[in-house]
Amino acid sequence: MDHESAIPETDPFALFEVWFGEAKASEPNDANAMALATASPEGFPSVRMVLLKGHGHDGFVFYTNAESRKGEQIRANMRAALLFHWKSLRRQIRIEGPLTEVSEAEADAYFHSRPRVSQIGSAASDQSRPLPARQVYLDRVAALEDRFPEGDIPRPPHWTGFRLSPRRMEFWRDREFRLHDRRLFTRHDEKEAWSNTLLYP
Ligand SMILES: Cc1cc2nc3c(=O)[nH]c(=O)nc-3n(C[C@H](O)[C@H](O)[C@H](O)COP(=O)(O)O)c2cc1C
Repeated sequence: MDHESAIPETDPFALFEVWFGEAKASEPNDANAMALATASPEGFPSVRMVLLKGHGHDGFVFYTNAESRKGEQIRANMRAALLFHWKSLRRQIRIEGPLTEVSEAEADAYFHSRPRVSQIGSAASDQSRPLPARQVYLDRVAALEDRFPEGDIPRPPHWTGFRLSPRRMEFWRDREFRLHDRRLFTRHDEKEAWSNTLLYP
């Protein structure tokens, strides 16, 4: 029998920190991988994995190509949902809210913190657009390597990051006999204090 108490009524950012720390210690790889759901202006949802690259009380940050499919959806509808599922811990966190683009300085700093090969790979990619043959991409990578033989690659202006400011954060934890625990935290804007409730599983 699981004697752990129910998910505490704490600050959801503090709870995120605890669960994320445990995931980093137990997941075989990419504990920061999360599903990102966006929707087209017509309301068609789509979802894909991205990596969490920054988080704190101001929100949860990921980086991408703003001309990709997700980028177009985000430009048209600056709202998103994130989902972490840590299989080894049997835990899920769902986070929803509006997005803002990170500053140019923040995007530059993160872009240039990546290995040179990753900078080249993303600068050479027209993410989500049709690629006639893999060799076309490899040729673009080689052309950038020739053009910038050493040091950092300039960040393409469409390569940027977005910060989700949470309005809902829901923590789900597996419990025995499928009598799982869920706690939902909500607020209407980032200045408001969080309310929370348990939810039936
Ligand atoms: C574990 C994992 C992490 C990923 N991280 C990112 C990421 O941080 N940024 C990104 O643009 N794509 C990332 N991708 C690729 C996306 O899932 C997706 O293929 C790509 O961004 C294009 O999505 P879109 O066509 O919906 O724009 C990741 C894929 C996986 C499987």
